[in-house]
Amino acid sequence: MDRIAITGGAPLQGAIPIYGAKNSALKLQAAALLSAEPLMLENMPDLADTRFMAQLLKSLGVEITWIKETRTIRMHAAEISSTIAPYDQVRKMRASFNVLGPLLARMGHATVSLPGGCAIGARPVDLHLKAFEAMGADIHIEQGYVKAAALRGLKGAEIEFPFVSVGATEHAMLAAVLAKGDTVLKNAAREPEIEDLADCLNAMGAKVEGAGTSEIRIKGVDALKSAKHKVVADRIETGTFAFAVAATGGNVLLEGGRFEHLGAMMKVLRAADVTIEAEGRGLRVQRSPRSRIKAVDFETEPFPGFPTDLQAQAMAMLCVADGQSRIKETIFENRFMHAPELARLGAQITVHGNEAVVTGVPKLVGAPVMATDLRASVSLVIAGLAAEGETIVNRVYHLDRGFENLEAKLAACGAQVTRMREMEPA
Ligand code: UD1
Repeated sequence: MDRIAITGGAPLQGAIPIYGAKNSALKLQAAALLSAEPLMLENMPDLADTRFMAQLLKSLGVEITWIKETRTIRMHAAEISSTIAPYDQVRKMRASFNVLGPLLARMGHATVSLPGGCAIGARPVDLHLKAFEAMGADIHIEQGYVKAAALRGLKGAEIEFPFVSVGATEHAMLAAVLAKGDTVLKNAAREPEIEDLADCLNAMGAKVEGAGTSEIRIKGVDALKSAKHKVVADRIETGTFAFAVAATGGNVLLEGGRFEHLGAMMKVLRAADVTIEAEGRGLRVQRSPRSRIKAVDFETEPFPGFPTDLQAQAMAMLCVADGQSRIKETIFENRFMHAPELARLGAQITVHGNEAVVTGVPKLVGAPVMATDLRASVSLVIAGLAAEGETIVNRVYHLDRGFENLEAKLAACGAQVTRMREMEPA
């Protein structure tokens, strides 16, 4: 397995281009199943996860062309040759589960493995399934598979989610666009990725209104057509680099970063005494390497609150803050696995249930560390950049799931980061 070696201590200076959002791209890829005509996605992130999704779509009969130079993927589901997503594929990447809704809506049936839990928590899909049942689908769970059928098609329904779920909101939208009649989603998630999905579906001829608010109204249509859509900028990638600059000091322009998607993060950074401002078509982040970060308390919440996907990165920054910070994780029950790894660099963190207390230290010292999930891995990279000496991050495959060209983007800003490739056995 590849490893990343970081020699910390250099402030970051320069510009970093922000790519399309992984969390959006994966759902947009699933949308290709809804139409017999091609869907083109521009600003597509080239990641282990998006390639994996492309492979899964291919196994369902979708023709895929990836045009690297223009960062565009063309997906053409003229005919669906299989309606089964097997365990091995869904187990490796949870977002694979999102093919269920589109297959059910277009073909009237689908068999998709249950995704199971993952390192950050149980992550059930009961709300997704209840939404499909409300639209008239018969759902059975057999031997770890969801067998869903709506042989005469899905019907529009009024669905009120008991709590906010990004995944269930998106999945219900992906099915409702081809249902007969009107669907109303109440207490819907409001994440920018939901708006992005609605924009793409509407470009395909769907009738979705209200995305970005807690009530989404969808008028079902008979068929969707060809469309071209640009994937929204990745707010998590933007935030990750912002926390990296905050931790190391420096001055970086995050090109394409959308400040309107990052209000809660900007509040935390400003409270930590970091300068962050909209500039041109991006965001500029600055901190003098001579001053120290201030301690900040925050909790993760659904959008527009502070994103759970940036919690680990913010924690890495707060490890070197002047004072004590409190972090509450309200979305996932087991999302502090980076804390003991950060402690290997000298961070002082205590975790009680879903709360972590970070007592800032003047400096971190490099060490070998191991990552357990995607966002945890990148928090270790941030800590390594801020630490003195060498940090080796093991299990880099987690990073490759969600960050394209991470080392190159950091190195272009003066960081000393190199990937050590594992030698193939002779
Ligand atoms: C979540 C994050 C999303 C992030 C993604 C990847 C929130 C609200 N969602 O989305 O921003 O990009 O992880 O890290 O911050 N739940 C159920 N039953 C369901 C679905 C969800 O109980 O059927 C629970 C989950 O366990 C969780 C909460 O609802 O505690 C929110 O889950 P949801 O938003 O669906 O998670 P993701 O879509 O994975």
